[in-house]
Amino acid sequence: MSTALPPLRHFELDDADPTLLAGRRVAILGYGNQGRAHALNLRDSGVEVVVGLREGSRRREQAARDGFVVKGLAEAATGAFIVMVLVPDEVHGEVYREQIEPVMSGDSHLAFAHGFSMAFGLVTPPPQQSTLLVAPKGQGDKLREAFLAGGGLPGLIGVQGPDPGESLKVALAYARACGALAGGGLLSSFREEAVTDLFGEQVVLCGGMVELITAAWETLVGRGYSPEGAYFECLHEVKIIADLIHQRGVDGMREGISTTAAYGGLKAAPRIITEETRRTMEGMLDEIESGDFARAFLAEQERGSPWLESMKQNERDHPMQKTGRRLRDFLRRCQLDGGTQDGSRRE
Ligand SMILES: NC(=O)c1ccc[n+]([C@@H]2O[C@H](COP(=O)([O-])OP(=O)(O)OC[C@H]3O[C@@H](n4cnc5c(N)ncnc54)[C@H](OP(=O)(O)O)[C@@H]3O)[C@@H](O)[C@H]2O)c1
Repeated sequence: MSTALPPLRHFELDDADPTLLAGRRVAILGYGNQGRAHALNLRDSGVEVVVGLREGSRRREQAARDGFVVKGLAEAATGAFIVMVLVPDEVHGEVYREQIEPVMSGDSHLAFAHGFSMAFGLVTPPPQQSTLLVAPKGQGDKLREAFLAGGGLPGLIGVQGPDPGESLKVALAYARACGALAGGGLLSSFREEAVTDLFGEQVVLCGGMVELITAAWETLVGRGYSPEGAYFECLHEVKIIADLIHQRGVDGMREGISTTAAYGGLKAAPRIITEETRRTMEGMLDEIESGDFARAFLAEQERGSPWLESMKQNERDHPMQKTGRRLRDFLRRCQLDGGTQDGSRRE
């Protein structure tokens, strides 16, 4: 693997010109996890926001209570300078074709918070359409929380269209106003963001890591070790190591743990992630890049997600979750009863 790094294309707050959005309207389509946070942050940044929701949406009341003008999807998109699509990825295609495309004007910008629908052909805007990617790296409530604390989350920024320079300026102004620039912005593309996001969540965050934890817990419990002890060692302590890796990198984490842990971990790693595991990762990346994963996901959604729901039920029923609930309750009670943040006992 080459160690030469390409030049970093990164952006800071001062790279964005907030006046670009002055006197212009932004339509936020969808008022869920991301939608509410974007709408509130943009408004607090002085941007005029209209929220677009489908007929009969149960979130109309919430958005109105938050003080927003709420319209239908097409009505909200009409005449908006930026139309930010914050409905679930699997419905982007129909929402774009039926509600957005017919009302987009030449000087408006279409925007997304994830590259999925553009990367895998659910949305195919005409070549003259300026299209922006502003993907905050985190959930909506975290985005709002960071913004209210005076900062923001990191964001991946990408553009497509006839004038990439101009589109980038608009994307940066939007990212700044919605809180996705104060944490640092990195230049990306719809495809890169979509492929790497899917790969990371499947192989590490929501797939590989979870299975590793579960298999390790089952191995210990299968040999008669206590479920609570196994939970503590294989799951609860993940946060300690994740925080260290997050703050200091893998090499920094290694310096912050015991010699026994450093030696044992490095000895074990290649036995757990074998050449076969690496080949499997390559295969999964092939499936994501070719669009096979996206097609399988969309077909599952079409069927009403029976496989996904049954897998989630199996996971809920696994004895490790019961152990976790009991242990978390116990630890919470102990903290409430006697512990303080600095580890001393309450009087
Ligand atoms: N969640 C995250 O952490 C995260 C992070 C970064 C980027 N993103 C991206 O942000 C976008 C939005 O994700 P999200 O998690 O915020 O979605 P979400 O919370 O599931 O979005 C819900 C909103 O979408 C509307 N909606 C659902 N189906 C619809 C349909 N068929 N037609 C019209 N409106 C519909 C809902 O309207 P009703 O009120 O009518 O139900 C609701 O307002 C996605 O592209 C996602 O990949 C998400």
